[in-house]
Amino acid sequence: MIKSVAGTRDILPADIAKWKHLQSIVDSVFGNFNYKEIRTPIFEETALFARSIGEATDIVSKEMYTFLDRSGESLTLRPEMTAGVVRAFIEYSLDKKQNLNKLYYIGPMFRQERPQAGRFRQFYQFGAEALGGNDPLLDAEMITMAYDILAQLGLKKLWVKINSLGVPSSREKYKNILRQYLQPYFEKLTAESKKRFDTNILRLFDSKEETDLMIMENAPLLIEYLDDESLEHFEKVKQALLAAGVPFEVNSKLVRGLDYYTNTTFEIVSGSVGSQSALCGGGRYNGLVKELGGNDIPGVGFAAGIERILLACENEKSFALEDEKLDLFIVSIEKGLENFAYRTAIQFRRKGLSVDLDYLSRSVKAQMREANRINAKYVLLIGGEEFEKGEIVLKNMINGEQKNFAKDDLEKIFLSIR
Ligand code: HAM
Repeated sequence: MIKSVAGTRDILPADIAKWKHLQSIVDSVFGNFNYKEIRTPIFEETALFARSIGEATDIVSKEMYTFLDRSGESLTLRPEMTAGVVRAFIEYSLDKKQNLNKLYYIGPMFRQERPQAGRFRQFYQFGAEALGGNDPLLDAEMITMAYDILAQLGLKKLWVKINSLGVPSSREKYKNILRQYLQPYFEKLTAESKKRFDTNILRLFDSKEETDLMIMENAPLLIEYLDDESLEHFEKVKQALLAAGVPFEVNSKLVRGLDYYTNTTFEIVSGSVGSQSALCGGGRYNGLVKELGGNDIPGVGFAAGIERILLACENEKSFALEDEKLDLFIVSIEKGLENFAYRTAIQFRRKGLSVDLDYLSRSVKAQMREANRINAKYVLLIGGEEFEKGEIVLKNMINGEQKNFAKDDLEKIFLSIR
């Protein structure tokens, strides 16, 4: 038997209601903040991700699903959306149509990571990107939207961590300072950190290894070396978060796994999902549009992992959905009435009711059991003595009341169900 690929999951009908509930909150919160949905292709030219996310990042160096198509072009299944959204923004000159573009998305991403709870190879993200503004209010808006969506899902154990990486020039100066600090400890670093020392030194703060952690404990922090403008920007982000009532903590060791960030970065972490606890992450990326061939246009955004969020919701029992109900189940009491039952069902369905009927030639008792199992609000009983008199019986499954109708008076039946 062929099974699903490791790290991929089927979302079965029993789980779809939760996904739809989440999506409806996502659509409504982004709508309230005036973000418009954008859909971009699931695969792009490989170079797009290498240039935006960064060659030395884990995502690009070891996690991308990259393949040559039949014409020999190197393509990659998107590991994230920011690159694709920025590509589309440049390609369609969206900046010519309006100065500030507020965009959001929801869809599958692909990373060849080691699968574990909360970490998949195909996973879903929702997220937003605001292109065209450097206002710290936009940074705060991203964090607020992410927080509001999680809060509306009923999640409580949330920690918002924010940091500023400053502009590239102050960051470069800081990297030298960090390098100097680390030099005497170099031999004690883990192999992975030794590698990152050269390629992506900030990521040493991400190590979970005890020896690295001890060395990084007293490392100089980027925030102490920020230029004045970045500090002022960061201060305004914090003020705006206070104004929005979003609780946060500054974590100067927060570094993100993608290279495009400048200034603000943030993550929202859950206390109820184990080690893969980052529900979302994002930040500002003022150099990315230019890097990808567009004008010098600033951007800020975030993305959130839906599987992890739903896992947190489940662990916190953060919301409960009502069982799905069917408006009407049509029970045929005897054979030979299939077409009447079917026609009746179609007519009600076309009027907007959810209707089902028996397709398995079941006994009346089994049909009633089925009506109960699928939470039918009403049952229409067709057949028997009533039918001979030209009547059908509508039974209210909630209070048990029954009412007879002329068998062709569908309008009256419809009105009592609706
Ligand atoms: P990211 O931190 O790589 O950022 O991913 C965002 C979120 O996606 C994570 O916090 C996590 O919840 C979820 N996620 C990532 N990898 C996996 C995985 N293998 N399995 C399950 N969930 C996962 C970005 O993707 C950036 N594009 C965010 C951004 C947008 N920055 C600016 N704009």
